[in-house]
Amino acid sequence: MNIDLQKIFTDTPGKKTCVHLNNCGSSLMPQSVLDAQVDHLKLEAAIGGYEAANKRRDAIEGVYDSVARLINCHRDEVAVVENATVGWAMAFYAIPFKAGDRILTVEAEYASNYVAYLQLAKQKGVEITVIPSDDKGQTSLCALEELIDDRVKLISVTHVPTNSGLVNPVEAIGAIARKHNILYLVDACQSAGQMPLDVEKIQCDILTATARKFLRGPRGVGFLYVRSSILDQLHPPMIDLYSASWTSPNEYVLRPDARRFENWENNYAAKLGLGACVDYALEVGLDNIKTRIDELASHLRENLAKIKRVKLHTFGAAHNAPQQCGIVTFSIDDIKSLDAVTEILSRGVNVSGSSPSSTLIDATNNNLPILIRSSVHYFNDHDEIDKFLQIIKDIAAS
Ligand SMILES: Cc1ncc(COP(=O)(O)O)c(C=O)c1O
Repeated sequence: MNIDLQKIFTDTPGKKTCVHLNNCGSSLMPQSVLDAQVDHLKLEAAIGGYEAANKRRDAIEGVYDSVARLINCHRDEVAVVENATVGWAMAFYAIPFKAGDRILTVEAEYASNYVAYLQLAKQKGVEITVIPSDDKGQTSLCALEELIDDRVKLISVTHVPTNSGLVNPVEAIGAIARKHNILYLVDACQSAGQMPLDVEKIQCDILTATARKFLRGPRGVGFLYVRSSILDQLHPPMIDLYSASWTSPNEYVLRPDARRFENWENNYAAKLGLGACVDYALEVGLDNIKTRIDELASHLRENLAKIKRVKLHTFGAAHNAPQQCGIVTFSIDDIKSLDAVTEILSRGVNVSGSSPSSTLIDATNNNLPILIRSSVHYFNDHDEIDKFLQIIKDIAAS
């Protein structure tokens, strides 16, 4: 691992004021990400919003190059949107489903995605099938193969769920989707920024992510990738004068690139913040980031497991999964998780709670309560994790 931890610590102003183990909620921005936004806001205040966007046009265009480098695609395949959900929904609702079409999804699917499937099931008569997980807690590839038939229109997968360390085998799923020529959508909201992502290796057609989580970017901005070869199969559910040109009184023409999923007005400071956080992640190196997160998360998991009354709900811990990530969730016997979260926050460590309703199928199948959700990033260190472990020991002993 070739990573300058001292520089990373210095670059992270929030590290001075809190122990941040809520990176899967919203992480701490590096100084360069903060500067990119503040500088642009100052420019807007000084010369006007339109004028500032014109002046910084090259930098704004550069954001698409940065995202393209992050996921190994062409810049024309990237749309910058308000958040992962907007990107996901713009692509999902653009798919021309008809009654009887099937959507295959995963047990750990995120609530916002699942309710969209339910809406289409009610409105259009599509059928939703959840691919069972294997004994390691990952989406079962054998089960997926068996479920495929002519009616499967979409395989839609959450890479890393919001509520555990599970990492779904998106590349192996992609190989199956490609073999059967089925549209493949990956929600990479929790994986972007914590591990390498390559849309050519994953072989997905659509991928979505947000800036504020492991990418360490601002709130209120995210991106959507759409493979150029499927762009014309998708008609955005909402268009405006940016995504389409009004060419004659009765005609319009969609933009030829993925920006047909954007609209005209947007938060340029946040967009520049997205570019800056992606550049920062690329500079640290996604392999380095993953190695460091794996090391810190293993330390946390191993030591949590030793504390009496603590029940780890991380898939790997329960099912011996081969790959886990930086999200570590657990409960403490006879203590309400939300009370524990309040106590942890009061002692200066940021974590959050994870409700069963955010991953309802997984929570129901595995009988999950509300969980205490911690998540490490590469800028965390052993002292911070040990402080957190001590707090959990105290709570568990109380
Ligand atoms: C797996 C997953 N997908 C999607 C989202 C939604 O992201 P956003 O809030 O940026 O729309 C989240 C947010 O927690 C998530 O965990």
